Amino acid sequence: MNVLVVLLWLTFLFTGSYGQFQNQHSQQVPVCASIPVGVPVNGPETFQGPKGEHGTAGKRGPKGERGSPGHPWGHGGCPTITYHFPRDDQIADYVWYRSYVPRMIEATACAWLETSDFHDDIASWVSYAIPGQNNEFLLSIRTKTTADIYIGGQSHKLLLPDLSSMNKFHACVWFSNKTRQTGIYINSERVSTLPLKGFVSQGGGSMIFGQDQDDVNAGSLAENQAYNGNITNLMIWPRVLSQNEINNLAYNCQCPVDYVIALTLDRVELFGEAHYSIPDTCPTL
Ligand SMILES: *[C@@H]1O[C@H](CO)[C@@H](O)[C@H](O)[C@H]1NC(C)=O
Ligand SMILES: *[C@@H]1O[C@H](CO)[C@@H](O)[C@H](O)[C@H]1NC(C)=O
Repeated sequence: MNVLVVLLWLTFLFTGSYGQFQNQHSQQVPVCASIPVGVPVNGPETFQGPKGEHGTAGKRGPKGERGSPGHPWGHGGCPTITYHFPRDDQIADYVWYRSYVPRMIEATACAWLETSDFHDDIASWVSYAIPGQNNEFLLSIRTKTTADIYIGGQSHKLLLPDLSSMNKFHACVWFSNKTRQTGIYINSERVSTLPLKGFVSQGGGSMIFGQDQDDVNAGSLAENQAYNGNITNLMIWPRVLSQNEINNLAYNCQCPVDYVIALTLDRVELFGEAHYSIPDTCPTL
């Protein structure tokens, strides 16, 4: 305010002294007084000019830590998947293998089984039927200490350690028409061996899990032959696996890659209340 008064006074003084301004109103216009003293040039009351250029980018922050790895499909070389058969004594729940089953003159079938289905009827976990021979390859548990195995329609009764003391066990059934033997490993131990009476003579039949077919295409199922429990990582190889390979399967989750049957989701169809889950880890002993 004081500045304005001084300027007005000076204007009046100059005008009066030198008579340079012709216009009457010019007395009220300060000359070249656009920047009042004491107000900062870039203060909040000034207009902003056009935007300046972008500055250079600063340095990026350091890299974050790596997350811990998950448990991928195929962990350790085994397609890790569990099929659940939650009901006993019914014919509605089963898994149908929808890919080709080959002829096998020798084979090994392995899986982790969780069951308490030890009544004196069979609990069928693999059933392979061809026209005219429903028991071409049938893997079942009969009691807590016996397994009924059919190969080429021929019955083989294998003795087992007491399964009722185990929540979960690893089973490998094998047969060979070369050595004419069949047998089973439970938890990587060779517990039973018998002379072989047949082999899987024909491919292209129907294979299901959780029921016993008495006819092809899941035909003629029987309620008391249902499997009640869980089956994890069921696979079949067209040869006899060595003790070392079975150890690696059971202790290290390492599956030989030359299998012919694995229950990946692209190869199965689920019926009834049969369902699947993907375990967090591949099971091991
Ligand atoms: C099968 O798996 C389910 C889910 O993990 C579990 O609740 C059930 O107890 C298992 N069944 C057997 C017989 O162990
Ligand atoms: C199975 O074994 C028997 C007895 O050794 C033999 O005669 C037969 O040729 C074998 N079959 C095949 C397909 O290897």
